[in-house]
Amino acid sequence: MDIKLVPITDDNVWDVYKMSVAKHQEDFVAPNDQSLIEAYVTLLKGDNVHTFAINQGDTPVGFVMLGYGAQEGDPEIAKDNYLIWRFMIDHEYQGKGYGKQALHEIIKFIKSFPNGEAKACWLSYEPENIFAKKFYASFGFKETGEICDDELVAVLSLNS
Ligand SMILES: CC(C)(COP(=O)(O)OP(=O)(O)OC[C@H]1O[C@@H](n2cnc3c(N)ncnc32)[C@H](O)[C@@H]1OP(=O)(O)O)[C@@H](O)C(=O)NCCC(=O)NCCS
Repeated sequence: MDIKLVPITDDNVWDVYKMSVAKHQEDFVAPNDQSLIEAYVTLLKGDNVHTFAINQGDTPVGFVMLGYGAQEGDPEIAKDNYLIWRFMIDHEYQGKGYGKQALHEIIKFIKSFPNGEAKACWLSYEPENIFAKKFYASFGFKETGEICDDELVAVLSLNS
C-alpha cells in the first residue's frame, strides 16, 4: 500500500474540496472547504497548521489537518503539543485500510516535530463516533475525560 501525505497545492486543492464522507458521518468531521478556510485564517494569525491530501499512489483519497499549540477554547493538553484537527477518508475509499496507513504516516510526521518538540498529540471526536474511538484507541490514544466543543478528548504520548 502506497499511502503518503502530500501538501495542499494548486494541483490537489480542488480534489480535496470535492471529497466527502458518508451521509451518516457528516456530524463527525467538518467539510473540507470549511477546514481549508479555518487553516487559512490560522495561518493569517501566525499560528501553526499543516494541511495534506492523503494519497494512494497519485490518487487523493483523503485529507488531514494538523495544528500545534493552544488556541482559544482548547483543552490544557493543547499547549506545546500537536493536534490532529481534521482527518477524513473520502466515502468512496473507506474500509480499504487507507485510514489506518494514513494515521501511521500522520504520527510519523508529527514525530518529526515540524513546529517544535512535544510530549503528546491530541484529538477529539463525537461521543457517538464509536468507530473513531476504537480506531484511535488501537493506536494508543487514551481519553482524558475532558470535553472540547462537545467532543471527547483523547491523547497519544509521543515518548515511545
Ligand atoms: C475514520 C476514517 C478516517 C477511517 O478510515 P478508513 O480508511 O475507512 O479506515 P481503514 O479502512 O483503515 O480501517 C481501519 C480499521 O477499522 C475497521 N473499519 C473500517 N471501517 C469501519 C466501519 N465503518 N465500522 C467498523 N470498523 C471499520 C477496519 O476493518 C480496520 O480494522 P482492522 O485494523 O482491525 O482491520 C474514516 O472512516 C472517515 O473518514 N470517517 C469519517 C470522518 C471521521 O470520523 N473522522 C475522524 C473524526 S476525528
